Amino acid sequence: MCGIVGYTGKGDVIDVILKGLTNLEYRGYDSAGIALRDENKIKIYKALGKLINLKNELETNKSEIKNPTSGIGHIRWATHGNPSVINAHPHTCTCGKLAVVHNGIIENYKELREILISKGCKFKSQTDTEVIAHLIADEYANTKNLEAAVRNAVKKLQGAYAICLIHEDEPDIIVGARKHAPMLVGVGEGENFIASDTTALIEYTKRAIYLEDNEIAVISKDKIKITDIEGIEQVKKIEVLPWEPVALSKLGYKHYMLKEINEQPDVIRNVLNGKISDIQNPVILNEVSLNKDILKNLNKIQIIACGTSLHAAMAGKFLMEEFAGISVEVEASSEYIYKRTTTDSSTLVIGVSQSGETADTITAIKQAKSKNAHILIITNRPDSNMARLADSLIPLNAGIEVSVAATKSYIAQLISFYLLAIHLAEIKDSLPKSYLQNLKHEMIQLPSKIESILSDTSVIQACARKYSSYKNFIYIARGINLATALEGALKLKEISYINATGYPAGELKHGPIAMLDETMPVLSILIPGGITYEKVLSNCEEAKARNAKLIALTSSEDENINNIFDDVIKLPKVSEILSPVLACVPLQLLSYYIAEFLGKDVDQPRNLAKSVTVE
Ligand code: M6R
Repeated sequence: MCGIVGYTGKGDVIDVILKGLTNLEYRGYDSAGIALRDENKIKIYKALGKLINLKNELETNKSEIKNPTSGIGHIRWATHGNPSVINAHPHTCTCGKLAVVHNGIIENYKELREILISKGCKFKSQTDTEVIAHLIADEYANTKNLEAAVRNAVKKLQGAYAICLIHEDEPDIIVGARKHAPMLVGVGEGENFIASDTTALIEYTKRAIYLEDNEIAVISKDKIKITDIEGIEQVKKIEVLPWEPVALSKLGYKHYMLKEINEQPDVIRNVLNGKISDIQNPVILNEVSLNKDILKNLNKIQIIACGTSLHAAMAGKFLMEEFAGISVEVEASSEYIYKRTTTDSSTLVIGVSQSGETADTITAIKQAKSKNAHILIITNRPDSNMARLADSLIPLNAGIEVSVAATKSYIAQLISFYLLAIHLAEIKDSLPKSYLQNLKHEMIQLPSKIESILSDTSVIQACARKYSSYKNFIYIARGINLATALEGALKLKEISYINATGYPAGELKHGPIAMLDETMPVLSILIPGGITYEKVLSNCEEAKARNAKLIALTSSEDENINNIFDDVIKLPKVSEILSPVLACVPLQLLSYYIAEFLGKDVDQPRNLAKSVTVE
């Protein structure tokens, strides 16, 4: 959500921290700040808004910055206290000798604040983070040792934190600590790093050490020490990061979102790679250790996810019930946490998450794990905290997704669910072999069909221009494409700020039809040959009778379609069951072009963050 970078070493401290923050900026971006250890003093610079404003602030003050040897930086997504320079991190203690940045939420900050005020601490901001600075300074007054002070202080914190700090009296060491929020140490030569995500390190090192909850890291330019909460030194593995710097390039596209939409054919090829070697043979899903015996004892599947991943989960439910006849429940993670669930040791719980760091889903998965369920995680980040909770793991292999609006990770999640549902059907022998062979054959064709959609987007762009001034939309569909309608509406909402609702087409007449008139376009997904086609068409006629503008997303060749609908976005020929994989692409493009025409910040829409690490 927020982003942290700490650096000490031979390089240009400001440059390294700013580059790291730039690579994290997609995660949260209402203000930014940096603390530098320069001429044995801590100097702090902050700015409201995007990182460019902090860069300008540093430029304005460059004459007073001499030769910093270490520093910490932060980009903020506000939780406590509005976005402002005062609330931006780093925060300091009363004497100003210590600077700390923080991701997460300190739940007991009000109590701690009262105690610290009674001890004479002067608070400046409305943030929960500032208590951490005062608390560590208070402990430092007793211990005169920063590592020990951090250890004593974090024992008093309740909630989630990844913190990184420097102190004027402890030259060139940076201390990091974490609990329920990600943090890693980047290992360099003559330099070392602390960061909240690997993308901050990508340009400098491929070697990293992941901190576990309650671990504390102390780094200097040529030493790394990691201890547990009691101060016992830990032997940690240095992992090699999989990403290349090019993963963060826009490759000539105007926005990451457009680049990521265009990457989808290759993403599907990657996901399918090695899984369907021959359509005659079963899919190869070695990651999922579900054999006949486990399946025999399995009485249900629960899928937990948020946002776009939740929509992929809805399609997944449809597929697993349809192909394998297993009962599947889908639950928003934030709802699963606060109810009495029926999860037990004979439940397969699937957590779906692009980032693998979504706090709601991590908490829900931990809850399911405590009930002894088998945990399968589907994520784009096998290096994430969520992945570490998995009994089985399906990595999405979609490459880093930078744009806040999820696109290529959604398509990778969909394909993963098709493979999983086929895998279950093959183990259970629940579908005719010929059906599965045809399905696999058609799946292999999907990338080239998406390429044909991407090769000519003129109709979608014309629709985007025509409808960009409308204030409300309804997206309707039935069956497996209900998930597509919900996802299409979410994409429009989040990047254009237009009110868009996804709805089961058959439910329109039970309420929402009251809203329809010429100001409310209805976008419907119609796949001829499918069992829902005629019924969705009738629902569209009902909308037309109320003067709604009708947009069809369809593979229909029927000329009559043009008489019913105001606009028709054509899909390549596809079976209804596989159509969500194609249908999501024009909907992503429609949202993209509408947001573009409206001049919105496509990749970093307001109020959002790529990875939501608070509940
Ligand atoms: O990383 P996750 O898949 O767990 O994230 C879940 C949602 O926060 C995410 O899908 C969000 O809805 C996106 N902005 C959708 O585009």
